[in-house]
Parts: sequence; C-alpha cells; structure tokens
Amino acid sequence: METVLKTIIAHLKNIGLKVVKFERIEGGVSGAINMIAFLETNSFGLNRIVIKFNEEKRGVGERERKGAKLINGYLETPSPVMINGEIIDKDLPDIFISQYIPGPTLDSLVANGIQKRKEVIRKVIDLHVKMWAATLKSNMLITEVEGYPRKIEDTKKKLFFENFGNGKPREINIDGAKRELREIADLPIIFNGKELPSLNSLLDLAGHHIMLSRSFALLHGDEGAGNFMWLENGENGKIISVDNERVGIHCIEEGVAKFLCWFPAVHSNKKRADFNIVNDKLVIYFEIDISLFIKKVVREIREKLDELLKTEGINLELPIFHAFCAFYYFREIQWLIRRPQSPMGRNYMESSILCLGIQEAARCFRKSLV
Ligand SMILES: Nc1ncnc2c1ncn2[C@@H]1O[C@H](COP(=O)(O)OP(=O)(O)O)[C@@H](O)[C@H]1O
Ligand SMILES: [Mg+2]
Repeated sequence: METVLKTIIAHLKNIGLKVVKFERIEGGVSGAINMIAFLETNSFGLNRIVIKFNEEKRGVGERERKGAKLINGYLETPSPVMINGEIIDKDLPDIFISQYIPGPTLDSLVANGIQKRKEVIRKVIDLHVKMWAATLKSNMLITEVEGYPRKIEDTKKKLFFENFGNGKPREINIDGAKRELREIADLPIIFNGKELPSLNSLLDLAGHHIMLSRSFALLHGDEGAGNFMWLENGENGKIISVDNERVGIHCIEEGVAKFLCWFPAVHSNKKRADFNIVNDKLVIYFEIDISLFIKKVVREIREKLDELLKTEGINLELPIFHAFCAFYYFREIQWLIRRPQSPMGRNYMESSILCLGIQEAARCFRKSLV
C-alpha cells in the first residue's frame, strides 16, 4: 500500500496538488481500497478527492472509467477530477480518482433507520429499472452474455475451495469432526425438517435455471446498497452510483436478486446452526434472525421493483430469480472473511445454505414476480 500511495502522491504533486493527509473509507469488501485525499489549498479549488486502487486485481481505474461511461446516460457517477481540461487519472490503469461524495450510502441510511431511505430506495430502483428497460437486448442468447456459463463453474469452485476458489478445500464441522464440504455435497439434505436435494444438485438446478434467462440489459452489475450514494442537493437530492467496475450486459434477474439479497446477507443474525449426517443424509437445523425492520426494507424494495418492472413491461421468471438469489449467497462466501459483522462470516457451510433459511424467513422472496 505504501508504494501505491507514494505513486499517487508523486503523480498529484506533478500536476500541482499536494496531499495533506489520507483517510481510508471503510465499507467495501472487494479488496479495493478507497482513500480520501485531503489536499493543500490549490488554484483548482479542489480540497478532497477519492482515490481507489486494488493491489490484488489490476485495472480498477480502467474498469471504473469504462463502467462510468457506459452507465452515465442512466445514472450519475462521481465526476472525474479535471485539471486544465484533462482527466487527471486517465493514464493510470490501476488508479481511479474521483470527486468526493459526502454520502450517505443507501446501506447506511437503512442501517441508521433514517426515514429518507424510502425516497432513496424509490429513486435508486426507478433509475435502474428505467436503464434496464431502455437497454433490453431481446435477441441475445445467454451464451453471448459475458461471464456465462463460466460463472456457474466459478461459483462451485468458490464454494468448495478457499481463497476465491484457489485455496484448500473448505471444511465444516459435522458431528464434532471436520469434513470437506465437497465430500458431503452429494448427500441429500434435510433442512429444518424439509427434504431438499444435495448441495451439488441445488447448484446444478440453479445453474440450469440461470441458463434459461432471456432478459438481458445494461446493468450496474453490483447492486448492493453500499454502491448507491445519496447526495443532498438543496430540495432535491440525487443518486450517485459508485463502484462501476462491473457495468455491462447482465441478466435482469441477477440485478433484482442482488438488490434484494444484500440486506438479509449483511444485516441479520445467526441463532442456531447444527449439522449431522443421519442415514446418509445431511440433516441441518438452521435458524436466523432477521429483524422486522430489515424484512420491511426488503419488502419495500421488492414492492418497488415489482411495480416498476410492471410499468416497464419487463416480465421475469420466478425460478430464474430464485436461482440468482441462491447464487448470490453461494458466491458471498468469497467475501466472508472481509465481512465479519455478517452472520455468514462464521461458518462456510452455514453460509452456503443460508440462502435457504433467508428465503424461508423473508416471505417476499417467495412471492411470484410480476
Ligand atoms: N467518490 C466517493 N465519495 C465518497 N465515498 C465513496 C466514493 N466512492 C466510494 N465511496 C465509499 O467507499 C465504499 C467502497 O467503495 P467501492 O468502490 O464500492 O469499493 P468496493 O469495490 O470494495 O465495494 C462505498 O460503499 C462508499 O461508501
Ligand atoms: Mg462496492
């Protein structure tokens, strides 16, 4: 990190900006670092800028600038920082520099129980659904959508192996002994008394439904509530979309699933999780606690999505939406170690089946889509 900061300081100095101090923004889990740089008084009138870089994955600057360009007709993004008509980070593929947005994010509005969230939810969903409707790609096939079917195999790898699918096999505690998750993935499951197929069959089933999706459009690609900020602007505030690295053509059901799955994943508590093998079946007792307030927020988001999708004439298939919800939670596992406050942060197997518990607990996941 020191080396990157030195590069940034030198680059800014070259163009006449001196950094007084850096302050890290907590929040993201992607491995990227967002720093606020406070600047010495300068003739350009800039006092605070945000710098994003990622030492684990190259090209964040390039991806952010490309994503912002694609999404800008539909959603605002933090303005690039310009000096004498030049974007100051345009030649830095691994660094993204933008205007500082004083916040808050939609996530923090909800976490702090601020009433304003309703208006912000409505605005965020409205902008996204309008973007989806305006960019529908009705003649595309899922095999032409970037990432599929590779993402299905990739999800299995991330579920069964640590370190983003490249590490040692994940283990779970069963009857007091450690077992590799992949070794028990073919056992049929009894989840809170309900018979379910094995983990491998569930993954295959979800993958099968995902491949049936036919609703492609331009999506943000990471519709978590930490990525949409509310900028007060006198009477009318506005939404600013950050983290635009994955903007591109995706399945609409995936965007809907991400909007809805975020809050139960990040703001819920585990009450009980027991795993046993009985007669060659994996018997799971699992209870999570989602507060009435979070359920209410998820319902608000769901109702807004339903209403606006209907207005725009976008019809989605329920099994495909559920498959993406399941994938969302399976894929969340890769971020667990960076999200210790989440109930998923404690045990991998719990997380992998948490989607089932959440979908049981939050009724709005079960209702059909318009
Ligand atoms: N331009 C900005 N101004 C103020 N805060 C920002 C800005 N960009 C990002 N943030 C904050 O930093 C957090 C993480 O940034 P993000 O780009 O989403 O990283 P990650 O890829 O790790 O999710 C966001 O949730 C938001 O709170
Ligand atoms: Mg983010």
